[in-house]
Amino acid sequence: MKTLNEIIKAKPWVAWVIFIATVVVVFFIGLLASTIIERRGEALYTLQMLKPLNEWEPRNEVWGENFPREYESYLKTLETNFASKHGGSVMIDYLDKYPELVVLWAGYAFSREYNQGRGHAHAIEDIRKILRTGDNEYSPQPATCWTCKSTDVPRVMDEIGASDFYKKKWKDLGAEIVNPIGCQDCHDPKTMNLRITRPALIEAFQRQGKDITSFSRQEMRSLVCAQCHVEYYFKGDGKYLTFPWDKGFNADSMEAYYDAMEFTDWTHALSKAPMLKAQHPDYELFMTGIHAIRGVSCSDCHMPYKSEGGVKFTDHHIQSPLNNVSNTCQVCHRVETERLIQDVYDRQDRIEEIRRIAEKTLAAAHIEAKIAWENGATEQQMKSILTLIRHAQWRWDWVAAANALGFHAPVEALRVLGTSIQKGEQARRELAYLFVKQGWKYPVELPDISTKDKAQRFIGLNPEKMKADKEEFLKTTTVKWDEEAKQRQGYLYNYSETNK
Ligand code: HEC
Ligand code: HEC
Ligand code: HEC
Ligand code: HEC
Repeated sequence: MKTLNEIIKAKPWVAWVIFIATVVVVFFIGLLASTIIERRGEALYTLQMLKPLNEWEPRNEVWGENFPREYESYLKTLETNFASKHGGSVMIDYLDKYPELVVLWAGYAFSREYNQGRGHAHAIEDIRKILRTGDNEYSPQPATCWTCKSTDVPRVMDEIGASDFYKKKWKDLGAEIVNPIGCQDCHDPKTMNLRITRPALIEAFQRQGKDITSFSRQEMRSLVCAQCHVEYYFKGDGKYLTFPWDKGFNADSMEAYYDAMEFTDWTHALSKAPMLKAQHPDYELFMTGIHAIRGVSCSDCHMPYKSEGGVKFTDHHIQSPLNNVSNTCQVCHRVETERLIQDVYDRQDRIEEIRRIAEKTLAAAHIEAKIAWENGATEQQMKSILTLIRHAQWRWDWVAAANALGFHAPVEALRVLGTSIQKGEQARRELAYLFVKQGWKYPVELPDISTKDKAQRFIGLNPEKMKADKEEFLKTTTVKWDEEAKQRQGYLYNYSETNK
């Protein structure tokens, strides 16, 4: 057999063929290797800063220059076109849907307007627009209300301290707080690690002897949400934002906590009951459910992984998981999409049924108590009745104010609602005894509160005036705030739905 050398000597062109073939093969291997390295590089570089970030950088767009994938998915929280049976990103006017709520909150700003939450990028727009924050004349809220709305909050708290932040009025900080919830709220700008920026959460754990830095990564994937999606109250004259967790995490122990310090959010305008307002205890209710017990985090369902061009990253379009079942539920449950959605609806429908009973009971109790006062009832006669109303409404609200209509922990949600109805009906029974004993007309005639408008007029609100005053506020005050903010930071990104 001839050697390769002998062949080449006889036919020199063979050498050229081998040479060119080798070049071609090497070229393609090189091409393959380079795309692999490029993809890997992309994965690495996603965590390398093109532009270093300032410690308290509030502008999401600036963070977005370093992390375009996370930023672009974040901007999708501006979308408002997904409706599930009970939730989603479309606007739901809760007072319209459940007019009894107007009566339940008589004398409190929630009776003016209350809507289903929207995506994070709407937070500034929505707090400015909501009738609860008032107008140029009526402005009842403390600055504490800004705490869960913006990346400017940690910046301003760093400048003036948390307690001075809370002491201000809502209006005092309008020009400072302009960038909606975003990167700064959950991330350390140097390392991009998850970080807790809100003091109330750190302090609540401190009082239980727990150090916030000792939690695992999986726990942090829920705790970043627990900075805001929790029950809280404004403590003392300084309106210091505090979580009522010292006696425990459930509705009963928080009720005991508030009772022990004789805390009330407001006095009910009809029944005069010393009321509590529950504020979306999402984290607390969730923690009592099977998903939390099995170690699932908020992010597993609301911030799932997503792949784009070989890069796996966290989808920052925080939304209803029912709009993204394949990346959320189906990562763990090998069940059809329709079946999983139905599982959610089955639980929500049942909870809504019980919730509606509680609402109607409470509305009747407030109105009957009002008439008892008008008939000349004494403080002594009313005391235990008002305590029952306080507890019944707290328990109803604990479930009603939490997002997801109980899905996060259906069994606990139903238990708490059950005790609400029991206490509400006991209040009504005691009222009935009182009416009969005193010879007052019973049953009392309940007013027509079948629509939001009727209910608002019944409790003495003037819907047209509230809206007109708000329009005026949005044409004057917030325009000035924006101008001032533009001067401070150079420009102001327009977080509108058309700008995503
Ligand atoms: C096992 C999955 C799962 C986990 C874990 C989970 N959620 Fe949810 N969440 C849901 C579902 C399902 C809904 C109902 C969505 C709907 O009705 O469209 C929901 C609804 C919500 C909503 C209202 C969204 C809407 O569109 O109505 C908020 C806010 C929310 N969850 C926050 C949280 C927080 C905070 C945590 C952690 C403390 C958490 N969730 C953990 C599944 C989950
Ligand atoms: C509500 C909290 C929250 C907000 C707001 C938020 N993130 Fe995240 N981010 C997370 C969570 C949770 C993860 C997953 C971390 C983990 O699993 O360790 C994450 C992960 C990341 C990562 C790591 C890579 C990846 O995709 O997993 C980057 C980079 C990042 N976020 C950038 C941003 C940017 C940029 C913004 C603002 C546009 C932002 N984040 C806003 C909670 C948040
Ligand atoms: C800085 C406070 C803050 C943090 C941190 C935060 N949220 Fe929110 N979240 C809000 C507020 C306020 C809204 C309502 C915004 C609006 O309606 O304009 C909201 C709205 C939402 C909604 C949309 C509700 C709807 O009905 O469409 C979901 C879902 C949600 N948050 C889940 C989460 C999850 C999951 C986390 C943690 C990964 C988290 N949030 C962290 C304050 C926060
Ligand atoms: C990270 C994994 C994980 C994700 C994501 C997840 N689940 Fe689950 N789910 C579990 C585990 C674990 C259990 C407990 C079952 C067990 O241990 O046998 C559970 C239980 C349930 C149950 C029965 C418990 C109950 O509350 O009645 C339902 C229904 C359910 N999941 C629906 C969903 C839906 C809908 C989603 C998406 C919105 C979802 N899950 C997302 C892991 C997950």
